[in-house]
Amino acid sequence: MKATVVKNTRISDKFGYLELKCPEIAKEKNAGRFFMISPHSDSVYITDTLLKRPFAICDITSEETFTCLYMITGRGTKILSEALPGNNFLVTGPIGNFFRFEKDTSVALIAGGIGLAPMINSARKLREMGIKVTLYYGGRSKSDILMYDFLQTICDELFITTDDGSLGIHGNVLVPLKENIQNYKKIYACGPNRMLQAVTDLCSQNNIPIDVSLDEQMGCGVGACLGCIITINENNEKVKKRCCVEGPIFDGTKVDWDSLIR
Ligand SMILES: Cc1cc2nc3c(=O)[nH]c(=O)nc-3n(C[C@H](O)[C@H](O)[C@H](O)COP(=O)(O)OP(=O)(O)OC[C@H]3O[C@@H](n4cnc5c(N)ncnc54)[C@H](O)[C@@H]3O)c2cc1C
Ligand code: FES
Repeated sequence: MKATVVKNTRISDKFGYLELKCPEIAKEKNAGRFFMISPHSDSVYITDTLLKRPFAICDITSEETFTCLYMITGRGTKILSEALPGNNFLVTGPIGNFFRFEKDTSVALIAGGIGLAPMINSARKLREMGIKVTLYYGGRSKSDILMYDFLQTICDELFITTDDGSLGIHGNVLVPLKENIQNYKKIYACGPNRMLQAVTDLCSQNNIPIDVSLDEQMGCGVGACLGCIITINENNEKVKKRCCVEGPIFDGTKVDWDSLIR
């Protein structure tokens, strides 16, 4: 399946977002799912980037278009960052499970770094369901906090934290979350594994369920290569799950964090 670049907006030297035209993905109704994109466009073909890369469906912008927020970390994302309007990429999706929001519940979304991507679509979904949108979003520094003005338009309550205190609250997302955790019936989080583990610990201490979306490395995205295996603790046993098809969203209290964080 093909996705055509409508717009490529660079936010900084490290971040940007692509608006892609692909009705099959833009029709997705749930938040938290992802798609795989081949870093070869019809104008760039490089053989060392054969595997597709996974990205969250960030925002649905029309019946035919959606956005992909990217952080440049290596070859594939560098190529995506240089995409031009009209370039075509091969994509697969939507893939994976999704955040299950329940009506009339008080929830909080937690994002760390590029873990913001699935939270934008999640915020939209919550608002559509009439649920108050509260987002805790942390980064290392002011330059890592993306789309601040835009986030204020889609959130009812926004807590920004930076490790160096250059924007918002000084510290990580746990600082404000600890103060308010009792207000929520469920937490949804995406970000670095260490942050997800710490948020899960806080939720466990307060008996609050948490779903985490894991950004594991993926080879195929369709359950075939077993390159995305993670360990889940289920009924006192360690069970292997494929993050691409059985995830990327898991009950945080069941994730075997020791095997993920090395
Ligand atoms: C569900 C999900 C959603 C994500 N959403 C976003 C998002 O919205 N925005 C964002 O910026 N990032 C997101 N990521 C992370 C993103 O996929 C990586 O940052 C990206 O793939 C890095 O590609 P790269 O080529 O730039 O980096 P590199 O580190 O150079 O490339 C990764 C390398 O690892 C290889 N590889 C990948 N999987 C395997 C594997 N299983 N076994 C062996 N080799 C492997 C690739 O082929 C590639 O060579 C997401 C990840 C997941 C799993
Ligand atoms: S990425 Fe291949 S099985 Fe999950």
